[in-house]
Amino acid sequence: MERIPEPELMKKKEQVISYDEADFSEGEVNLINQINHYLLRKNISLNEEDLIVDLGCGPGNISEKLAIKWPNTEVVGIDGSKEMILRAEHNKEISTNQKNLKNLRYICSDIKDIKLTNFLLKKKVSLLVSNSLIHHITRLEDFFNTIRSLSSNITVNFHKDLKRPLDEKSALELKAQCSKKYNEILTNDYYASLRASYTFKELKNFTLENDLSSLDVFEDGDKYLIVYGNV
Ligand SMILES: C[S@@+](CC[C@H](N)C(=O)[O-])C[C@H]1O[C@@H](n2cnc3c(N)ncnc32)[C@H](O)[C@@H]1O
Repeated sequence: MERIPEPELMKKKEQVISYDEADFSEGEVNLINQINHYLLRKNISLNEEDLIVDLGCGPGNISEKLAIKWPNTEVVGIDGSKEMILRAEHNKEISTNQKNLKNLRYICSDIKDIKLTNFLLKKKVSLLVSNSLIHHITRLEDFFNTIRSLSSNITVNFHKDLKRPLDEKSALELKAQCSKKYNEILTNDYYASLRASYTFKELKNFTLENDLSSLDVFEDGDKYLIVYGNV
């Protein structure tokens, strides 16, 4: 299936509300466990001097879970949509875990511009994470240039995203499954995301052709792709 890009930023109010109100907790917990597993395998522990950055953090679901899982680190969630960042800040304020989120802050910025700000200069990024971001990025080089510019020799990258279905029929089947659980706005967004997603081959080839072969790309089940490792 041909890739059909979708707008990078999620700005529409009804889109933001639908996304925020949906329950994605199972996948989110799964992602945190996958990252934890990877760090344990690499013998990496995160504490006071470590900075975790969550790119395209949306309403902060993953950022909050990262902040709770690694309470001694500093966690920064970044999103280019002001509406999403407002939502993330609101969620932090009303969280029953509020006292465990003091290590978390948000920045509203396009990921392509963050190298221009100096918020990170005090610390190197130890863990660079994203979930469901890559498919939003129109040009793959923008995503990889960003993670390259934010990474140093200590940075562990872990990025998870949807995998583009093989054909339109499979995409429509996934859309139909989604509609059983989520509202129409979210279902349409999910369908647009599936069509905008990259394939394993596109991501893998990009890393191989752009001197990024220290990053590994693998398929996680039949719906997801993971890019991880050092840049
Ligand atoms: C599908 S949501 C995922 C949110 C969150 N990571 C999660 O898993 O719940 C994708 C988010 O990436 C943000 N985004 C997309 N392109 C971006 C860019 N170029 N710079 C910053 N944020 C971006 C969107 O605004 C949106 O909030």
